[in-house]
Amino acid sequence: MCGIVGYIGNKEAQDVLLKGLSRLEYRGYDSAGVAIVRGTKIEFDKKQGKLKTLISDLKDAPIKGTLGIGHTRWATHGIPNEVNAHPHLDCKKRLAVVHNGIIENYQELKKSLKREGHKFLSETDTEVIAHLIEKFYKGDLEAAVFKTLKLLKGTYAIAVVHKNEPDKLVGARADSPLIIGVGKGENFLASDAPAVLDYTKEVIFMDNHEVVTLTRDGVSIKDFHGRKVHKKPSKIKWDISQAEKAGYKHFMLKEIFEQGDILSKIIDERVANDRISFGELKISERAFKGFKNIAIVACGTAYHAGLTGKYMLEELVRIPSWIDTSSEFRYRDPMVDKDTLVIIVSQSGETADSLAALREARAKGATVLGICNVLGSTISREADGVIYTHAGPEIAVASTKAYTAQLAIFYLLTLYLAKLRKTISDKRYDYFMSEFKRVPGLVNDLLSEYKPEYNALEAYAEGFKRYYHQKHNKSTFLYLARNINYPNALEGALKLKEISYISAEGYPAGEMKHGPIALIDENPWVVCIAVQSKTYDKMLSNIQEIKARGGIVIGIATEGDREIMHQNINYLIEVPKVDELFSPLLVVIPLQLLAYYVAREFGYDIDQPRNLAKSVTVE
Ligand code: AGP
Repeated sequence: MCGIVGYIGNKEAQDVLLKGLSRLEYRGYDSAGVAIVRGTKIEFDKKQGKLKTLISDLKDAPIKGTLGIGHTRWATHGIPNEVNAHPHLDCKKRLAVVHNGIIENYQELKKSLKREGHKFLSETDTEVIAHLIEKFYKGDLEAAVFKTLKLLKGTYAIAVVHKNEPDKLVGARADSPLIIGVGKGENFLASDAPAVLDYTKEVIFMDNHEVVTLTRDGVSIKDFHGRKVHKKPSKIKWDISQAEKAGYKHFMLKEIFEQGDILSKIIDERVANDRISFGELKISERAFKGFKNIAIVACGTAYHAGLTGKYMLEELVRIPSWIDTSSEFRYRDPMVDKDTLVIIVSQSGETADSLAALREARAKGATVLGICNVLGSTISREADGVIYTHAGPEIAVASTKAYTAQLAIFYLLTLYLAKLRKTISDKRYDYFMSEFKRVPGLVNDLLSEYKPEYNALEAYAEGFKRYYHQKHNKSTFLYLARNINYPNALEGALKLKEISYISAEGYPAGEMKHGPIALIDENPWVVCIAVQSKTYDKMLSNIQEIKARGGIVIGIATEGDREIMHQNINYLIEVPKVDELFSPLLVVIPLQLLAYYVAREFGYDIDQPRNLAKSVTVE
């Protein structure tokens, strides 16, 4: 996903832009560039590869000026190279534009502009924006941008500067996030808050189909009809240090180790005298009492959190609950209506498929509840109600703390609904609430066994790497679990594959005889989640089947479980004892760490894995 930064003020724009782009590196990218209004010219520099290449180039030849735009590009149209990197300029290099999103009708626009004599340099969709603004520019940049936007189909967040207007920075958004950083004598544009937090915590979240014109002392927002829109800045509650590594080698490791404290904060914020409240929620108790079914819709890790939520909701609230990936839900004419609560789970709140699913659900009359982490994100603002996970900025592409925070919100929502709809006794409610309150401490105890100095999971990862090379790099992983931990089997597999690029599959253990057991010889390595539960004996049978065929088993069991010691498993990981309902919050910790240590063994870019972006804002 691309990153945009814009600056207008009295500082050297180059410094502000590069700092802002460095805060957006987590989004994943393959090239970077800046354009600055210098006197009566636009000067620019753009480089393929990591930001440090651009920084070193600019160190040798800095670009002076106090107005500019910057960009990190995650290629959608055109290979990653310098020509296709942003910013893109018009024919006469009088204006520059950066863009996050996809212009779906760029080919026809490009053909028409070429017929009018415009010369294109790149293969990108974005370049058509620069030439359209050039075509419509008659001395008023904002007016030229308005005319351009009317022709664009697709998604965009853009920032534009023009050499003739050194006191203006223009931005616009349609379905790609764009925020305004409000400073004193300076203003900022960015794709996400971390890019401006070194300078201001006052941000305005732009809505769809809005255009903003920033000067050094003013912010003017208009809708696409040209009508003024008044918005008050929100104050970002966390500071930039939370978006830094704090001594950890990777953001992912830092975010894994934050989980116990975040779970504790979530409970403290939402539970008072054992009563649950969601504060900002705009869905009434009456509505919650009336829903006849629940649809949970999400992508990736958020989908796994939602699948775990499905188990909780059906067990305690006894309401039919189903789940779908956003990309499937949005195209299959789903059976939702006014009696359906649709829960959209999304850390970023900007995932294109999940946003489209939200709009589809609302169009069908369903009530939509968003569970999001990013304040002011599009999904959080278009849903009927939102519960923020308040996990703080999640920088690593591989989601960890957002996942356990989503689970925590599902636990609270489940208990809230069970009490409201009287589907569990007060006694059971009190029992579950007391068990849930134990979890943050148990997570911290578990994490303390895996402090970043040498630990058992690092040894398992080293063992796997040796085995992997002995088997000529053909080894894979299979994750097995049952019931409420089955989503964790999927999540453990996703964590491993997305940062170590090793093939890994999560499966319901009861399905082994229906096919996957054919895989078993001494490969794949099989992670079996066998904590104390109603299906524990069945998991032991699965382990025996695997061992009988020479398989290698990593067992995840409850501390003190002696029976599993007799199963001849190869590696044992123990997690603290807690009611089965809450065990996913503990089981996932070693799954995250195992993935982290294996990826570290292979020396990959753990925080920014290849081909991935932190939030998929394009289809
Ligand atoms: C998970 O580690 C991945 N980063 C990815 O699957 C992610 O969970 C998915 O893209 C959904 O993102 P969202 O929660 O921001 O919507």
